[in-house]
Amino acid sequence: MDGRFLNRVAVSALISVVAIGGALVAARSIVPDTAPVAPVFRLPDLRAVSIESYMLRASLAHGTVLAGRICAQCHGFALGSEGNAGPVLAGVVGRNIATLPGYAYSAALRQHAAQIWDDQKLSDWLMAPARYAPGT
Ligand code: HEC
Repeated sequence: MDGRFLNRVAVSALISVVAIGGALVAARSIVPDTAPVAPVFRLPDLRAVSIESYMLRASLAHGTVLAGRICAQCHGFALGSEGNAGPVLAGVVGRNIATLPGYAYSAALRQHAAQIWDDQKLSDWLMAPARYAPGT
C-alpha cells in the first residue's frame, strides 16, 4: 500500500461526501419539506374502550346532531328509508350484525352476523371499523 493508493482512497471518499451532500441540498431545494410543524389533526386513540362510562354522560341531543351531520351522509335512519352507501340503521341496536335484508355487506362484516349489535360492539365498530372487521 503506497502513498498514492491512500491518496486515491481519500480523494474518492471526499468526492463521495461532496456528491452525496450536493444531492441532498439539490433534493431539498427541488422538493421542499412541507410537513407541518404540528399535526393538523390527531387520530383518536384507537384502543378499544369500555363504553359504559361514556353512556353515563351520553346526550341524545348531541348524538342526534352528530348522527345527522356525519352518519346521515351514508345511512338512512327511518324504517323503509333509502340508505346511501350504508345500510339503513333503524332498529340496528339489538339486530344481528350485517343482516339487514337487501343490503350487500362486506364479507368481513358478515363474519360477525351471529352476534347482536349492543352499545359496546357499536362503540368498537365506530371507533375503528378496520380493526373490528378487517377488510370492511
Ligand atoms: C362514508 C359512508 C359512511 C358513513 C359516514 C358512516 N357509515 Fe356506517 N356503514 C357504511 C357502510 C358502507 C357500511 C357497511 C360496511 C360493511 O358492509 O362492511 C356501514 C355499516 C354500519 C353499521 C352496521 C349496520 C348493520 O346493519 O349491521 C353501523 C351500525 C353503522 N354503519 C353505523 C354508523 C354510524 C353510527 C355512523 C356515524 C357515526 C356511520 N355509520 C357513518 C358507511 C358509512
